[in-house]
Amino acid sequence: MKILIIHGPNLNLLGKREPEVYGTLSLGEINKRIRAGAMETGIRVSILQSNSEGEIIDAIQKQDYDALIINPAAYTHTSIAIRDAVAGVAKPTVEVHISNVYKREEFRKRSYIAEVSLGQIAGFGAESYVLALHALKNILSKG
Ligand code: DQA
Repeated sequence: MKILIIHGPNLNLLGKREPEVYGTLSLGEINKRIRAGAMETGIRVSILQSNSEGEIIDAIQKQDYDALIINPAAYTHTSIAIRDAVAGVAKPTVEVHISNVYKREEFRKRSYIAEVSLGQIAGFGAESYVLALHALKNILSKG
């Protein structure tokens, strides 16, 4: 089972970016936790961070994975193009956020991606990604 994990724009700044909101772990440290969680669950992961909407869409369209975990970052709230890519490939998808977007500004409560995802996990920091891995593993192994 191979899962593609996409981190959207500005997530390369984690650790330094608004640590009161996103915590102090760098993206490299978060990816280490994801890889450890993947090893435990016997899942292969491929991880991409991109600041570019087009690059994210190209990765989704490649379809060289069984399921997708995506933190679209600010594109969550704006990108019909990423939403259409997720809908178009019809792979099981979990939307993830580090922060609890429902405790924040109004504009963060609107997600274009949630509507085409199995579900959304938000507010658990790096653990949000690991929870998403477990959820997909359980769902996919039930066939
Ligand atoms: C985020 C939440 C988004 O609203 C924000 O634009 C981000 C990060 C999160 O992981 O909490 O860049 O996706």
